Amino acid sequence: MDIMSNQVIPVDPPYPVLIGQGLLCHAGELIREILGDCRIALITDSNVASLYLETVTRSLETSGYPVSSWVIPAGEASKNMGELSLVLEFLAESGLDRTDAVIALGGGVVGDLAGFAAGCYLRGIRYVQLPTTLLAAVDSSVGGKCAVDLAEGKNLAGLFHQPSAVLCDIDCLATLPWLVLADGMAEAVKTAILSGDELFALCRRPAEPSVLREIIDRCLTFKGEVVAADPREQGLRRILNLGHTPAHAIELCSGYTVSHGQAVAMGLVIMARAGEVLGWSEPGLTGKICAVLEHHQLPVRAPFQAAQLAAAALRDKKRKGTQITLVIPVRIGEWVEKTIPVTELEAVFAAGLEEFHDCSN
Ligand code: GLY
Repeated sequence: MDIMSNQVIPVDPPYPVLIGQGLLCHAGELIREILGDCRIALITDSNVASLYLETVTRSLETSGYPVSSWVIPAGEASKNMGELSLVLEFLAESGLDRTDAVIALGGGVVGDLAGFAAGCYLRGIRYVQLPTTLLAAVDSSVGGKCAVDLAEGKNLAGLFHQPSAVLCDIDCLATLPWLVLADGMAEAVKTAILSGDELFALCRRPAEPSVLREIIDRCLTFKGEVVAADPREQGLRRILNLGHTPAHAIELCSGYTVSHGQAVAMGLVIMARAGEVLGWSEPGLTGKICAVLEHHQLPVRAPFQAAQLAAAALRDKKRKGTQITLVIPVRIGEWVEKTIPVTELEAVFAAGLEEFHDCSN
């Protein structure tokens, strides 16, 4: 085992994030230091189960943990109230009490569902995130946002429940199909746009293990500071939704056939381009963002009209009455929030969908 980075997310209570290699094989001993004695319910999905469930279960059992496991079907379609209910029933059938814990082994869907279940089972028990995708590693495993989708939109039912620890084994990234790796890069680029030139430059480098480790480390340092300042998204944390208002609309309009990362990539471009067209952002910003996204073969053009996207976005939970707040990138490392009447959202998206010559070359 090689622990390459050990940082603390400074919320109340603080929790550790370990980044390294070989962590899953040693999950039991690492988790024992954090959770002590308890029973463990391990939640994973059908893809991850075939790769890592046995390894993690063996390590936990070797460290003395009684483990029961539940496997959900892989894919965004599992992020629903029906699957949540099945996970809760499973926790109850496994006899977990308030001293016990859930482990989320997988990507964003598993993390959201398992975290949600841990957050409401017996009014809240502990859980540990073992992210196996880049998207979960750079973003969703940290910060405690857990949710499921409703027919009306993404993440409409959920809660904030911080994990007790995050163990990020970068060996898992080696087994990811490039499309899934690219999904995670979209969230990393989002964080890079907010955090500044150093992370943005890293995102332009080939996605080798050492680069990915550095990207995850920097993304989580940035996110940890933001979450610590605003754990329940009352203010600053809203910046982490950069590009997500159009992204969630794209996902909804596509019937969830467009992945979250691909939608985020298109959403980032829409907000940057809108910022340039409307005079809020530095000229040339969209081209810089497109170049780094295209470097990871992420899409930069949304296949929907502004009116369709605005209608879908206005069902989004971030809408407040007659106004909506958008995060606009000003330049790399700088952003501004704009609160606009909902009636103007379509015009902003239309600006964001305008063609730019420097985006495709
Ligand atoms: N993924 C955005 C957040 O955790 O706030």
